[in-house]
Amino acid sequence: MGFRDLLDTFATIYAGLKYGLPAVFRAVVASPALLLDPAALSRVSMAGIWVFFGPGGDGGRRAEKTQLITPNARGVVLDLGAGHGHTVNYLDRNLVTKYIALEPNTLMHSYIRAMAAAAGYTESDGTLLILSCGAEDTPSILSSLNGKPVDTVVSVLTFCTIPFPQQTIRSIVLDLLASNGGELLFFEHVQHGRDQPNAAWWQGALTPLWKRVFDGCCLNRPTHTWVKDVVGDDGQTPWRQGEMWGVGNESESDLFWIRMGRFVKK
Ligand SMILES: C[S@@+](CC[C@H](N)C(=O)[O-])C[C@H]1O[C@@H](n2cnc3c(N)ncnc32)[C@H](O)[C@@H]1O
Repeated sequence: MGFRDLLDTFATIYAGLKYGLPAVFRAVVASPALLLDPAALSRVSMAGIWVFFGPGGDGGRRAEKTQLITPNARGVVLDLGAGHGHTVNYLDRNLVTKYIALEPNTLMHSYIRAMAAAAGYTESDGTLLILSCGAEDTPSILSSLNGKPVDTVVSVLTFCTIPFPQQTIRSIVLDLLASNGGELLFFEHVQHGRDQPNAAWWQGALTPLWKRVFDGCCLNRPTHTWVKDVVGDDGQTPWRQGEMWGVGNESESDLFWIRMGRFVKK
């Protein structure tokens, strides 16, 4: 764990404040009652942050996301925490029939609509559906799908934020993802393992500050292992196949440590 990794993390926190606070200020001036609603203010801030972080973060990892998503996503795709909908740009229009963008921050929905339309998915022809609930609300999601599980679930930098993450990941896998070939594709920043105890310690120490700036995002969740270790009601793994890998040119002790994964359901 190097000084450089720590410096990078503080620079990211600074940039989050730089882009989030002006959006909060403008929103409070327009509607002072927002001061009584910290969750709404956090969403306003995140919407401001994502105008800057969304395109930059996406552009820096295009090759990795193409390799993960483009050949594997097919049928009906559920994008968890869609943000501005950058994932839609990785979908092969010949393989993916419908793009479902789940995004509880409604301030981001107009971006999703525009990005999806440019990629050939619209609400008017039924190939785009935008859901406003959280990923943890799997009963509502399933009912919006008319009870039919999806062929592909994509999570890009979202498992770090969802409430009750282990329980939610399990329910997404068991209830929302189709059996017999349904795929979960993830690109997530995760907690370091035992080989990087200092970095893992700093991830835990900085999470209380980080999550206040980035709308509940946690640096210290080993979501990649939670996906791998899901078990069904029968005590067995639901996975037929699974693989995980990292990204190139990343410091091994980066506090924003990326793991990608492709898991195929039995
Ligand atoms: C770091 S952003 C990633 C956005 C997008 N996946 C991308 O890569 O550009 C995390 C997203 O998760 C969303 N989010 C927050 N709470 C959520 C929840 N409970 N369920 C699903 N998504 C959530 C946020 O609004 C935000 O858009």
